[in-house]
Amino acid sequence: MAPTLTIADLRERHRRFTPRMFYDYADSGSYTEGTYRDNEAAFAAIKLRQRVARNIDKRNLSAKVLGETRSLPLYLAPVGMTGMQHPDGEILAARAAEKFGVPFTLSTMSICSIEDVAAATTKPFWFQLYVMRDRGFAADLIERAKAAGCSALVLTLDLQILGQRHKDLRNGLSAPPKMTPKVIAQLASKPAWCMKMLGCKHRQFGNIVGHVKGVTDMGSLSDWTASQFDPTLDWSSVEWVKERWGGPLILKGVGDPDDARIAVGTGADAITVSNHGGRQLDGAPASIDMLPPILDAVGGQIEIHMDGGIRSGQDILKAMALGADATSIGRAFIHGLGAGGEAGVTRALEILAKELDITMALCGETDINAVGHHNIWGGVPRA
Ligand code: FNR
Repeated sequence: MAPTLTIADLRERHRRFTPRMFYDYADSGSYTEGTYRDNEAAFAAIKLRQRVARNIDKRNLSAKVLGETRSLPLYLAPVGMTGMQHPDGEILAARAAEKFGVPFTLSTMSICSIEDVAAATTKPFWFQLYVMRDRGFAADLIERAKAAGCSALVLTLDLQILGQRHKDLRNGLSAPPKMTPKVIAQLASKPAWCMKMLGCKHRQFGNIVGHVKGVTDMGSLSDWTASQFDPTLDWSSVEWVKERWGGPLILKGVGDPDDARIAVGTGADAITVSNHGGRQLDGAPASIDMLPPILDAVGGQIEIHMDGGIRSGQDILKAMALGADATSIGRAFIHGLGAGGEAGVTRALEILAKELDITMALCGETDINAVGHHNIWGGVPRA
C-alpha cells in the first residue's frame, strides 16, 4: 500500500472506508460550499519568506496554550458524530491527542459520552458546549464536564441555527443510520466499517440519549435535537455559562472584529476565529483572512486561536506567523481517524508536526514562538 504522506492521502483512505453519508458529513460545507473552499484557498494565497544560511539545527515546536505547554500550538477541534467516522472515534482521537501532547475537544454532539471518554483517557480533555433551549440540559452538561475533570470549556457561538448541507439531506444522514434502501446501499458498500460498528456499543449521541427525559431512540432524539438549537442565545448566555463553569473558557466561532471586542469583554480566556469549517455562513470570508483584522481589534488581550482550512504544517506556520496563539483542526484529524482509527489520528498529527518543523526551518526560524509577520512575504493580507 502507498504510504500516507499527506492529509490528502488520509482523506482518500477515509473516503474509501466510510459510508458515504458519514464521509460527506465531514467533507462538506453549507450551501454552495464557497466558504468551505475559501478556507483552504486563502492559506494557499499566503506566501512565506524563504531565509537561508542560518543555524537551524535545534528547533522547538512546543508552545503554551491556555497556560499549559503543548507539543504543538494545536488542538483537536470539536467534531460532532466523530464516533460515526470510526467506531469509538471520540475515544480513539482523544487517546491519540493525549499521547501526542495536544488537547482533544469533545463535542456536545459526540457519540461517545463525556463519561466514556473520561474513562478511556488519563489526562484532562476539553469539552465543547452547545447551549440548547433546554438550559437545564446545558447546566447538566457543564456539571458533567466538571465531574469528568475537563480542563477547558469551548462555547460555540456560531450555531444558533443550522446552515444547510445539501449532501446530508440527499444522503439521508442520521445516527445511527435509518435503514432506507438508499442507506442500506451506502452501508453495504463499506463492509469493514459495518463489521467494526456492529461490535461497538457506542452508536447513539452519548451525551444526550439517556440524559434527556423521553429521548430514548432515534425518532425522539432527532425531534429533540431539531428543536434544541437556540436562536435566542446572546451575550447574556455567555455570562450564564461562565458563571456556572468557573474555569478556562474559549468562545468559538467569532468571525468579526466587533464580535471579538464583545467576546473579550465577557472575560473569556480565548476566542477561536472560526466559521465552523465553512459549515454555517456560506459567503463568510475565509477564517485565516479574518485573523489579522480580529488581532488588530483585540490582539494581546486574550489568546486568539483560529481554525478552518488547516491541512498542512505550512498552514499552521502561516496562522502562527500572522499572530494566532494556537490553531485547531477538524477535518485533518477526522480524515486520519476514518483512515486508520487511533493510529490514523496519530499519523495526521505526525504529518502536520513534521511539515511544520521543516517549513519553520526553511523560513530560517528555530522556535515556533518566534515566528511572526516577518515570515510572511508581501505583508499581512487584509480581508
Ligand atoms: C464540526 N465543527 C463543530 N464545531 C463545534 O463547535 N461543535 C461541533 O459539534 C462541530 N461539529 C463538526 C462536525 C464536522 C464533521 C466538522 C467538519 C466540523 C467545526 C469544527 O470544530 C471546526 O471549527 C472546523 O472543523 C475547522 O475547520 P477544518 O479544520 O475542518 O477545515
